[in-house]
Amino acid sequence: MGYRDTYKSWQEGPEAFWMQAAEAIDWVEKPSRALDDSNAPMYQWFSDGVMNTCYNALDRHVEAGRGDQAAIIYDSPITGAKATISYAEMTERVATLAGALARKGVGKGDRVLIYMPMVPEAVEAMLACARLGAVHSVVFGGFAANELAVRIDDATPKAVIAASCGIEPGRVIAYKPLLDEAIEISAHKPDFSVILQREQLAADLGETDHEWDDFKAGAALAPCTPVGGADPLYILYTSGTTGQPKGVVRPNGGHAVALHWTMKNIYNVEAGEVFWAASDVGWVVGHSYICYGPLLAGATAIVFEGKPVGTPDAGTFWRVIEEHKVVSFFTAPTAFRAIKRVDPEGEFVKKHDLSSLKALFLAGERADSDTIIWAQNQLGVPVIDHWWQTETGYSIAAIPMGLEALPVKLGSPGVPMPGFNVVALGDDGHPVKAGEMGAIAIKLPLPPGTLSGLWQAEARYKSAYLEAFPGYYETGDAGIVDEDGYLYIMARTDDVINVAGHRLSTGAMEEVLSSHPDVAECAVIGVADQLKGQLPLGFLCLTAGVERPEADVVAECVKLVREKIGPVAAFKLACVVERLPKTRSGKVLRGTMANIADELAWKMPATIDDPIILDEITVSLRALGFAGGK
Ligand code: COA
Ligand code: AMP
Repeated sequence: MGYRDTYKSWQEGPEAFWMQAAEAIDWVEKPSRALDDSNAPMYQWFSDGVMNTCYNALDRHVEAGRGDQAAIIYDSPITGAKATISYAEMTERVATLAGALARKGVGKGDRVLIYMPMVPEAVEAMLACARLGAVHSVVFGGFAANELAVRIDDATPKAVIAASCGIEPGRVIAYKPLLDEAIEISAHKPDFSVILQREQLAADLGETDHEWDDFKAGAALAPCTPVGGADPLYILYTSGTTGQPKGVVRPNGGHAVALHWTMKNIYNVEAGEVFWAASDVGWVVGHSYICYGPLLAGATAIVFEGKPVGTPDAGTFWRVIEEHKVVSFFTAPTAFRAIKRVDPEGEFVKKHDLSSLKALFLAGERADSDTIIWAQNQLGVPVIDHWWQTETGYSIAAIPMGLEALPVKLGSPGVPMPGFNVVALGDDGHPVKAGEMGAIAIKLPLPPGTLSGLWQAEARYKSAYLEAFPGYYETGDAGIVDEDGYLYIMARTDDVINVAGHRLSTGAMEEVLSSHPDVAECAVIGVADQLKGQLPLGFLCLTAGVERPEADVVAECVKLVREKIGPVAAFKLACVVERLPKTRSGKVLRGTMANIADELAWKMPATIDDPIILDEITVSLRALGFAGGK
């Protein structure tokens, strides 16, 4: 069946469609129905089914004779390490870690925070939690102690699983001091931590810390704990409007069903083939397609620790594709922009045999046409932009390569996937005409595998997503649906920006900047950047009477954001202004600031290593009467 017939079959019988998809999952007790709307709008999927996600990702493949097949290929150009872990080995490793966690009292429903770089043990830890029915919450390594503490207080984990360090080009990042600081400042104290000691840097262990191997030694293999289809598998925090991140809750059953469906139908990957998502387990793409999706489908997943350029060169991606015979590759457009910048003629591409590759998938940010065309020309395979969010867990719109290779329209991430009825709404809450811009919303209920709510924040879930347009989920993106049903995602409607494919809150940065004693008022907006898509730019109004050099305040502010949020915020641009452009009612005119900044964006240096004061922007704002500046 092609795309249109498949979509139509879902429209005509969503219940039958998802019950059919659920056949691909092994259930302890089969669900009697797909949708449970008894507590709408808090919808649940497969709520009376019983299953275990880890069993579906590992054990069943061993039982089916795939024990010797690679489950995980670890390739770490940044350390030089490589390893292949079979399904049988991975099952044993995960069951042992789960046994050790159970021995320390971790069980169904307990939360476990995971703070690890891109090593196979990160996937092992996620699956060990899933095996026990415990709920993991992975925190990206680029976040600072304060962000970690916020998540510890919200998720109240019983245990933390971390590594001694992460490795970034030219520097080793000690994770343990960040973890210690986070636990110091958090109100909730986890019972214990398990620390993977990496050879690049050993961590000092405290009384409640256990070294990874010691912790696992002698543990019994844990069986898979049966969980309800609607029981949570994980919480993943994502940026919202304020400094308090949103804890997206992903239930077990729908997640397994939906991700399994996507592997063949969207990515065209079969059991036994190699799928590579060059992301990080700290992001949703990493959850869905470094860990769960490929393993649920019996495919091989790659855990890649490195960067697209410089580790060792701009041919790293192509070397990995060739060496491991990757059939389907997924990354963010920013990674391709980074490669294109140093290898515009594709000299490194030519050195490698990429014949295994069937398609490239891009997501995480808007894919610009230049990048898509360059990638198409270099790789000679379809380049598929697809659109999704942490909340949905997989793509809302795509070109479903396994169903039908529909034509690609440049600038569009494709057509809605079954389960998603996507509309562009006007201010009046009614759909706008095809081709007109609107707020992109999805008719409720959202399909299986999407969020069931926010962790212990039902009211926030409703107000953030469901209240603006009754009957719809508000995506926070603005865009267009054209006459063929293709989507175009143009911008966020909230204060979220997208830096190098990473979703960040300008509100969170403003909260940090406001805490600087010399800053009276501030605003952070996203400005266009050739490499990272967007960069945060801060406007600072200094407290009356501050006579210090502006450059000092700017440098301190840059440092403060790095310390409080983390290097991932990439906050390096700020300018001092006398006042912010505001409406009469006192609302900051972000659009005005963004327009001026964007006009001047081309004048910014391509890479910014030092904090700089943007004189040009200050001058322009002043010319418009908004800012005095000194
Ligand atoms: N732990 C600690 N620090 C980290 C980190 C981690 N896991 N990941 C990134 N950082 C740091 C970086 O070292 C950098 O620090 P710096 O300011 O000292 O240079 C900072 O956070 C910003 O990181 P980033 O914006 O990613 O920039 P980069 O120069 O390190 O890399 C790209 C740029 C484009 C190469 C990289 O972002 C990339 O490969 N992205 C594509 C894949 C992806 O992340 N996808 C996500 C969704 S699909
Ligand atoms: P995240 O939750 O980190 O995956 O970020 C989700 C947001 O990233 C979306 O709401 C969009 O704003 C943006 N995004 C993700 N994929 C795309 C895409 N293919 N095109 C345009 N924007 C995208």
